Amino acid sequence: MEKYLINPNQKISHISKDIYGHFSEHLGRCIYEGLFVGEDSPIPNVNGMRCDVVNALKEMGIPVLRWPGGCFADEYHWKDGIGPKENRKKMINTHWGGVVEDNSFGTHEFMELCSQLGCDSYIAGNVGSGTVQEMSEWVEYMTFGGLSPMSELRKQNGREEPWRLKYFGVGNENWGCGGNMSPEYYADTFKRYATYVRNYDSKNNWIYKVACGPNSEDYRWTEEVMKRAHWIMNGLALHYYTVTGNWSKKGSATEFTREEYYTTLSKAYKIDRIISRHLEIMNRYDPDRRVDLIVDEWGTWHDVEPGTNPGFLYQQNTMRDAVVAALTLNIFNKHSDRIRMANIAQTINVLQSVALTDGEDMLLTPTYYVFKMYKDHQNNTLLGSYITTEKEKYDGNELPQLIESASVDENGTIYSTIANTSADAGAEIKCQIADFEVSEIKAEILCGKPEDYNSFSEKETVKSAEFKDFTVSKDGFTAKLPPCCVVKFVVK
Ligand code: AHR
Repeated sequence: MEKYLINPNQKISHISKDIYGHFSEHLGRCIYEGLFVGEDSPIPNVNGMRCDVVNALKEMGIPVLRWPGGCFADEYHWKDGIGPKENRKKMINTHWGGVVEDNSFGTHEFMELCSQLGCDSYIAGNVGSGTVQEMSEWVEYMTFGGLSPMSELRKQNGREEPWRLKYFGVGNENWGCGGNMSPEYYADTFKRYATYVRNYDSKNNWIYKVACGPNSEDYRWTEEVMKRAHWIMNGLALHYYTVTGNWSKKGSATEFTREEYYTTLSKAYKIDRIISRHLEIMNRYDPDRRVDLIVDEWGTWHDVEPGTNPGFLYQQNTMRDAVVAALTLNIFNKHSDRIRMANIAQTINVLQSVALTDGEDMLLTPTYYVFKMYKDHQNNTLLGSYITTEKEKYDGNELPQLIESASVDENGTIYSTIANTSADAGAEIKCQIADFEVSEIKAEILCGKPEDYNSFSEKETVKSAEFKDFTVSKDGFTAKLPPCCVVKFVVK
């Protein structure tokens, strides 16, 4: 029997809702088909946004959406995506399949999508192939309420009031697809571009500036960028993808051995150590901890589904992916004192998606249910918690069997989420909550075999359900968790 302790007296940090954020790039079928089908589509839509997807994302509690990339951001010229659609420039999407981008989804459409979703916006600007003026004018176009060339242009295009822009990324992966820069060069470039990302209305629309951060374990990048530019940024963005094999042979999304299953999970769990090491460096240059860590790309990256365009990054999503999401979100909660936002890649039809579409059909992936179950943590306070558990090493990477986090909302209700990473072993846990008298507990579970997934012919193979295998005690509960599962307890 494992011991699980939750301490409501130990209130650690605010869990920013934006930790549960998402990412949408002009890549494959994420924007076109996935989110946007156009006003004339037979697929039910409001102003071109597909209703089934928008409703599902709202229900899941999407708090913030990142756009337009990714690598696409550093070759995107925003003026090509405004004005009458028939006049919009067509371009080649060189990174993703070499397809024609007709720019029918641009700034106005993205802001309309965010408004339908009821979520905040996070836009990544073009540093790699754009100018300082272009970036500066984009921010003016979106956020300036007074009289100026860009606000007049916005009005001509049908939008009178400025939009609220919460986050602005100054480039993306500028160590790679965003210009192959050294950290020293990027730090100077960031300062130059960020200077002209103006706050036109600091009171109502203060823009949070995100600098391009490291790729995975590139600690030198963090060191150099923090050393030179920490004072002018609000957040530094880490990217970390879980790749089971290697970049040339990543492994199938649905067919994998037990060994590969554990390799995936242990590689995903490694993000905990990586975050801690980047934070140590950041804290040295920013002892007041003013600059947050942002994880604006994370998730599993498998081989594309057989027969699909390799540049479209379309992959299925199994219980293995759901456990990756669950353990990662528990880790983010535990680091919520320093992580302000995270964005899983990518919302629809690309990499670790929460929904997949096929024409007018849509399915929800196992990862979707994890986000829906975990939405209760948004804007709560992280509590001190600890669980005893077995730990194994796979390929030198550690993996605990049980990974948890707990939070409390403003009414004193406690939410605990636990992932059981074992493919074959269940776990019995005894939870005790300090100085707490339990009046009611409800629980929800997502479980299955690691390879289980939802297909268009069987959409509900994996779905969350009420969990009943627990007994309530005076100060907690005892529960029997099945193998390969994610469970949420709501304790009043
Ligand atoms: O999410 C897919 C790609 O991964 C993004 O465009 C890029 O930023 C990263 O390399």
